[in-house]
Amino acid sequence: MSDNKIVEVIGLKKFFGDVKAVNGISFDINKGEVFGLLGPNGAGKTTTIKLLLGLLEPNEGEMSVFGLNPERNEVEIKHRIGYVSEEPLIFKSLTPKDLFNFIASIRNLDEERTTNLAKEYLENLEAIEYYEQLIATLSHGNKQKLQIIAAILHDPDLLILDEPIAGLDAKSVRVVKTILELHTQRGGSVLFSTHIMEIAQELCDRIGIINKGKIVGIGTIEELRLQADKVGASLEDVFLRLTEQDTSVNEIIAKLRASFKMKN
Ligand SMILES: Nc1ncnc2c1ncn2[C@@H]1O[C@H](COP(=O)(O)OP(=O)(O)O)[C@@H](O)[C@H]1O
Ligand SMILES: [Mg+2]
Repeated sequence: MSDNKIVEVIGLKKFFGDVKAVNGISFDINKGEVFGLLGPNGAGKTTTIKLLLGLLEPNEGEMSVFGLNPERNEVEIKHRIGYVSEEPLIFKSLTPKDLFNFIASIRNLDEERTTNLAKEYLENLEAIEYYEQLIATLSHGNKQKLQIIAAILHDPDLLILDEPIAGLDAKSVRVVKTILELHTQRGGSVLFSTHIMEIAQELCDRIGIINKGKIVGIGTIEELRLQADKVGASLEDVFLRLTEQDTSVNEIIAKLRASFKMKN
C-alpha cells in the first residue's frame, strides 16, 4: 500500500441473505482527500461504511484502512477514525457536557482541553445553549451537530460521515463544510455518504457513484462526465446516466407533461 492511500477497497461484497447489499466494489481514498459515496437509498453506502469500520464482516474482497485490516485491527483503526453514524445519537439520557466528558475518558483525552474545544465547536454551531440539556430533548439537527463534534474531538486521521447533512439547516451545513475543509487542510481525509447531488458536487474531491451495491462511476466531476459521455452536463444528468435511470426518468417526465396538459 502506498503511504498516500488511507483506504483501499478491492472487490468487496456483503450479502444479507439474498440481498446483495455490496456487490463487488472497489475504491481508494487518498490522504487529504474528501471522497463521497453518492447513491440512492438502499444503494449500499451504510453497509460499505460499516465494513470499513469492522462492524460487519465481508463475504468477499479486500480492505485496508491506514494499511490495516478492519477485521483484525478494529480497535486501532477506530482510534484514528471519527465516525458519524446515520442513526440518531444513542446517548439520549446524557447531556452534551456528559457526552464530551465520556468521550474524553474513553479516548484518553485531556478533559479540560476537550471540554474547551467541545464548547468552542458548540458555540460555532450555535448550540452552546444546549450544553447541559438532555440529548433526548434536542432536535435532530442539534443531535447531528453533537455527533459531528464528538467525532472530531480526538483529531482523527479519517472522518467518516454517513449522510451528515440530513437534518441540518443551511447555516449549519456551511459550518460543517468549513469543519471538513479545515480537517483536510491539516492533512485529514474524509469519507462521506450522501444521496444529495449538490452536497457531493460541492464538497468532494472525488465521488464514487454507487447503485445496487456496485460502483458505476468514479472520479472527479470531470472524469464522471467523461465516463457518462456527458461533457458539460450537471452531476444529476451524469448520475442518472451512470445509474441507467435517464431513459425511465425521461419517460416519466413525458407522461407527466401529457397529463398536466390534459387538465388545461
Ligand atoms: N442488517 C441488514 N439485514 C438485511 N438487509 C440489510 C441490512 N442492512 C442493509 N440491508 C439491505 O442492504 C441494502 C443496502 O443497504 P444500505 O447499505 O443501508 O444502503 P444505503 O446506506 O445506501 O441507503 C438495502 O437493500 C438494505 O435493505
Ligand atoms: Mg445509509
